[in-house]
Amino acid sequence: MALEEFTLTVLGAGVMGTAVSSAILNSLVKPYPKKVILCTPQPTDTLKETFAKFDNVEYSFTAEGNKKAVKEADIILLAVKPFMYQQVYDEVKDALTGDQLLISLLAGTTINELSIFTKNVAKVMTNTPARYGCGTAAIAFSPDVSQEQQELVKKLIEPVGLTVCIPEKNMDIATSLIGSGPAFCLLMMESMIDGAVRMGMPYDVARVSAAKVMEGTAKMLLETGDHPAALKSKVCTPGGTTIGGLLKMEDGALRSTIARGIEEAANISASFAKK
Ligand SMILES: NC(=O)c1ccc[n+]([C@@H]2O[C@H](COP(=O)([O-])OP(=O)(O)OC[C@H]3O[C@@H](n4cnc5c(N)ncnc54)[C@H](OP(=O)(O)O)[C@@H]3O)[C@@H](O)[C@H]2O)c1
Repeated sequence: MALEEFTLTVLGAGVMGTAVSSAILNSLVKPYPKKVILCTPQPTDTLKETFAKFDNVEYSFTAEGNKKAVKEADIILLAVKPFMYQQVYDEVKDALTGDQLLISLLAGTTINELSIFTKNVAKVMTNTPARYGCGTAAIAFSPDVSQEQQELVKKLIEPVGLTVCIPEKNMDIATSLIGSGPAFCLLMMESMIDGAVRMGMPYDVARVSAAKVMEGTAKMLLETGDHPAALKSKVCTPGGTTIGGLLKMEDGALRSTIARGIEEAANISASFAKK
């Protein structure tokens, strides 16, 4: 495959397929896809609006069209719901060439299961902030993926935000921490907003303030490299407001509840693969 001239076929242009494809297309990534074919059963206005400015984007809304799109593909981005991967494989299997590179965004589904498509599998776990270039993506490769293909996958996934390479055995944890993580952070922000509104702050002010506190704190954690507990203790004035608020949260076992939530989501992801 000439790296400068590749066709990317997206099987499942839903939330994640759209988020990752638009992150790639909006980036200056090199090599840049010559063509992107978005496959989904239903043409939606949002889909066409999102990609209207790109003249290298085509669509397929039929099983026959998907087959043709897969035949043309150098790289397949698989982004359907996990339970659908076998059905999608059955639809397109005759068009698979055997040496294509598959990038899968599916939770749970293992590299071994995905190797029905090709021996070259990159399993990626990312999240919805990818759409805004501030997502996180964990990548694991099947042993057959060449160094050159690994570099290409990393380059293509980089526009989603931060990328990390991990062994496949850590993927269920990545599914929880990275994939489900935005929902956990949103719950935390929702609770902070509720508390502020309860005390009389207007919702709009509380909403942007909570979001900026989350963003700023995350930046501080990344830039200092300090442990969260060390940073937290620095803002606890003896007898002050912060330690009072923290102790109230600890009474509700907030820390272990969040940690156990991460554990539960990782276990659920692992159970998908066993089905
Ligand atoms: N959403 C997240 O936050 C998140 C985070 C990490 C990983 N993931 C993973 O990303 C994957 C996609 O999730 P999602 O939230 O993006 O789901 P989604 O929005 O439902 O996207 C799936 C897309 O696939 C389409 N589709 C259904 N059957 C198809 C077929 N036979 N051929 C081609 N396309 C078909 C669906 O169309 P219809 O809607 O018309 O059926 C839909 O557009 C999942 O495997 C999930 O594990 C999601």
